[in-house]
Amino acid sequence: MVSEKKFIMGTYKRYPLSVNRAKGKYIWSEEGKRYLDFFSGLSVNNLGHCHPRILKAVKEQLAKHLHISNLYYDRLQVELAEKLVKSSIPGKVFFSNSGAEANECAIKLARKYGHLQGGKKENRHKIIVFENSFHGRTLATLSATRQKKFQKGFTPLLSGFKQAKFNELSTVKRAIDNNTCAIMVEPVQGEGGVRVASGSFLRGLRGLCNKSKLLLIFDEIQSGMGRTGKMFAYQHYGIKPDILTLAKGVGGGLPLGATIAKDRIARLFAYGNHGSTFGGNPVSVAAGLAAVKLLNVELLNQVKIMGSYFMKRLNGLKSKYPKRIKQVRGLGLMVGMELKGEGEEIVKKCFEQGILINCTQKRVLRFLPPLIIDNSDIDKLVNTLDKILGS
Ligand SMILES: Cc1ncc(COP(=O)(O)O)c(C=O)c1O
Repeated sequence: MVSEKKFIMGTYKRYPLSVNRAKGKYIWSEEGKRYLDFFSGLSVNNLGHCHPRILKAVKEQLAKHLHISNLYYDRLQVELAEKLVKSSIPGKVFFSNSGAEANECAIKLARKYGHLQGGKKENRHKIIVFENSFHGRTLATLSATRQKKFQKGFTPLLSGFKQAKFNELSTVKRAIDNNTCAIMVEPVQGEGGVRVASGSFLRGLRGLCNKSKLLLIFDEIQSGMGRTGKMFAYQHYGIKPDILTLAKGVGGGLPLGATIAKDRIARLFAYGNHGSTFGGNPVSVAAGLAAVKLLNVELLNQVKIMGSYFMKRLNGLKSKYPKRIKQVRGLGLMVGMELKGEGEEIVKKCFEQGILINCTQKRVLRFLPPLIIDNSDIDKLVNTLDKILGS
């Protein structure tokens, strides 16, 4: 096992796996042990590891150039932006490198919107965010992230974020005032414990935004790119955001972030208002474009089918172990199983058995498998969990 303590900051609690290679749904350690991946690099490798079409696109781009500058045009950026816009909201894209950056861009856009809308008298800059949300770890996105454990030690945080309760519309109504410019929400909270927004909540938020002229920002960094059986989770609800933020799966395995804003909002950014040296890097964009093309209707339908089979099997476990499992929830292949006790031991035991899963909020086992899994992979995981829970 590689030792890193001397040279790498200790910000990650790692599992004893030093990766040698990965392909499809599997990862191999340096010692040659194979792991079934039910985590997908935290919802990044949605099409499995090293998909041949993504690799081909990357290799073709590598043979041309790695980086030029955003001061020049890039044909592939335009092609990817068009694909993202056509599958979400009519508008324009700003490319960055990560989820936090995609959200930073959304926060800046919302502030610009608020400033222009409020005029001289009002100071419309407040964004309503939700308990247990996760939006990133830069100072602005950490301030939007409403989990004390991430914020501890980093105060003073950025002001201008007001907290409301997820799935409780009345708390949002109370939080809105003359200084509010936007509401920012994950349609499915990931880090917060795989909590799915109710239809009435999300539609209610849309209604409140329409009524008070606020921007509705959906953070689909974890839930987007086919993860829930639709291209974006909000598409299950029959409403649209004004701004949509993406990262993780959007780069097909390479670093890429994207902020999509409706035209009237996107237009508020003038030359020089925002920028990124690496944002929309040609190699990441080539990978992202190949990935987006692979997310077709058949695959999305397959995600829905696998998602409901997975939930059914996990609910079977819940019936068998009512004292250990509290709730199974999720959308498509973004699935959580809330336990009545801590989950880390189960993650470790799955790891020993050659399956990678995750635990968030101490008690929620989180499953984010590649979208290409089949029934036998689900059976393998559920049977392993069955043995662990039974022992
Ligand atoms: C919903 C959500 N938003 C933002 C982020 C931050 O993304 P990144 O780690 O790429 O900055 C994450 C990462 O897990 C996320 O799940």
